[in-house]
Amino acid sequence: MSLQDFLNLAELEDAARAQLAATTLSYYDGGANDELTVRANKASYARLSLLPRVMVDISKIDLGTTLLGTPLKLPIGIAPSAMHGLAHPDAECATARAAATMGSLMTLSTLSNSTIEAVSEAAPGRWWFQLYLYRDREVSRALVQRAEATGAGALVLTVDAAYLGRRERLKRLPMVVPDILALPNIGGAHSNPLEYFVSLLDTTLSWTDLAWLRGLTDLPIILKGILTPEDAVLAAEHGCHVWVSNHGGRQLDTAVTAIEMLPEISAAVKGRCELYLDGGVTRGTDVLKALALGADAVFLGRAALWGLAVAGEAGVAYTLKLLEDELRLAMALCGKTSLPELGPELVRGF
Ligand SMILES: Cc1cc2nc3c(=O)[nH]c(=O)nc-3n(C[C@H](O)[C@H](O)[C@H](O)COP(=O)(O)O)c2cc1C
Repeated sequence: MSLQDFLNLAELEDAARAQLAATTLSYYDGGANDELTVRANKASYARLSLLPRVMVDISKIDLGTTLLGTPLKLPIGIAPSAMHGLAHPDAECATARAAATMGSLMTLSTLSNSTIEAVSEAAPGRWWFQLYLYRDREVSRALVQRAEATGAGALVLTVDAAYLGRRERLKRLPMVVPDILALPNIGGAHSNPLEYFVSLLDTTLSWTDLAWLRGLTDLPIILKGILTPEDAVLAAEHGCHVWVSNHGGRQLDTAVTAIEMLPEISAAVKGRCELYLDGGVTRGTDVLKALALGADAVFLGRAALWGLAVAGEAGVAYTLKLLEDELRLAMALCGKTSLPELGPELVRGF
């Protein structure tokens, strides 16, 4: 079957599931507790309806945008997810190259199998670095300095995962990480990488720590895992950008979904910072709804991993291409020709 035979992201996901090891799927899929939030992420989009306008010249559609100074051909990026090496031997380098080829960008997880340096060579100028804050600040400091020195465009500080959510699926069927898959950014191979990683995390992380991080780097800082207007405003007041996310339903089960909170968060920050969103995005109409409700861009978590599993770099590029084509068509059918024209009047629901 050639890539072009896959009509949508769901078909790519099915193909990825058919070939990935059960232990890998357990990790990639695993949401917290009853996985209600995992399901809600997808269902939230289905509850929103579009209000198309007609009799507009839609012969040309422009999907271009700029995120933190980087021009993008489409408002869709790749979210940080750990261990792409379980999906494909080229790991994060393949994902990053695909994103760069498509005029998108990738956020490199701290828990990657490819090194920061390799990814920076694979996708110069088209990657951000995701960071956790460790009890040992020197580990965090070294990572920030490596990311800045190798050309990361921004730092994405994950703020919703000081403890890992209770992923029961993963407890039942733990992931198996082959010896050759090291976590080079946090010091090599470990028999239980998640356990090791959790032991490094700083559970005291609070707003006052941002000053320390700001003192280390001139890079823009994005806080990933914000779900309330109050925290979004605090993030903006601390000079950060906001990534609205419930971590793909992997942390706090029954947490609200990003898309349902986006209108309130967008109203609260009033354009003071850039706003991104992830969770359950699998259709161009999902992207359109998020942009209309105030996001500057959306990011793909699992969807990128499915594409990577099916066909490596080409599979991730094809995933982005499918969504780009779907978004372009959805915009045209809504009578919109460029992203600044999108607003909340396009969406009904909640
Ligand atoms: C397998 C996997 C690993 C992840 N690893 C990280 C990570 O290392 N850092 C992080 O901030 N988020 C991580 N996430 C969360 C994603 O960045 C993103 O928030 C989430 O996957 C979005 O939901 P979606 O999968 O429905 O698109 C991970 C998600 C998955 C599925």
